[in-house]
Amino acid sequence: MTVHFIGAGPGAPDLITLRGRDLIAACPVCLYAGSLVPAALLSHCPPGARIVNTAPLSLDQIIAEMQTAHAAGQDVARLHSGDLSVWSAMGEQIRRLRALDIPFDVTPGVPSFAAAAAALQTELTLPGLAQSVVLTRTPGRASTMPEGERLAAFAATGATLAIHLSIHALDQVVADLTPHYGPDCPVAIVWRATWPDQRVIRATLATVEAQGIDRTALILVGPALAGEGFEDSRLYAADYDRRYRPVGDAPRFPE
Ligand SMILES: C[S@@+](CC[C@H](N)C(=O)[O-])C[C@H]1O[C@@H](n2cnc3c(N)ncnc32)[C@H](O)[C@@H]1O
Repeated sequence: MTVHFIGAGPGAPDLITLRGRDLIAACPVCLYAGSLVPAALLSHCPPGARIVNTAPLSLDQIIAEMQTAHAAGQDVARLHSGDLSVWSAMGEQIRRLRALDIPFDVTPGVPSFAAAAAALQTELTLPGLAQSVVLTRTPGRASTMPEGERLAAFAATGATLAIHLSIHALDQVVADLTPHYGPDCPVAIVWRATWPDQRVIRATLATVEAQGIDRTALILVGPALAGEGFEDSRLYAADYDRRYRPVGDAPRFPE
């Protein structure tokens, strides 16, 4: 018996891995994390599966579901939105499972920042403009931020910021970032990326407004969002001598 943690992707039901889909189909128990996991994914559950929305449950109740399945020798598909490596609450669940000696594994999913970048048709790392992406958030009711993780500190690097769980605090985000990026820095808000009702707002730090969006949105900020004003990468430069494309009389990696 194994608890399979599965990244359910950002919303579109076909943005799950084949492995994730097959695991759902093979598990007689499916625990899924509320409104952000698309209901269509549950159609992969086998007939008669026990399907539980964990949004109204406490951690103790969720672990109790896993213990019951363990005692019955039933595999569990545990679905969380996006990928499990960020803001999934997987950490606290696997800590309990380790203590209970219940086996588990992890199948990654498409994270929402990647879905938002795809919606914008944007590369977040453009030569000379940004070579780092910071996945971050602002403090919330249930989560304080560690002391060093201030938005202004990340902004000082000039990296592309992908700010989660923060659309309600847009004014504060703009106030914190403007001294570092300047008022003309491009901003994008992507609401419900890949859902049928996806919305995209493009603006600058000086002009951005939430336009009524108050949940399930990403705020992306940084010069790379302009999608212009950058050099081609060296990777595909005709004169760039590399292992897979030797150039010149004395290539560095002779064939
Ligand atoms: C609890 S976190 C889950 C993050 C998720 N594990 C991931 O890989 O992206 C929820 C936040 O992720 C972002 N988010 C999740 N799905 C999204 C989507 N489809 N479009 C835009 N933002 C999304 C929003 O900032 C939302 O407040």
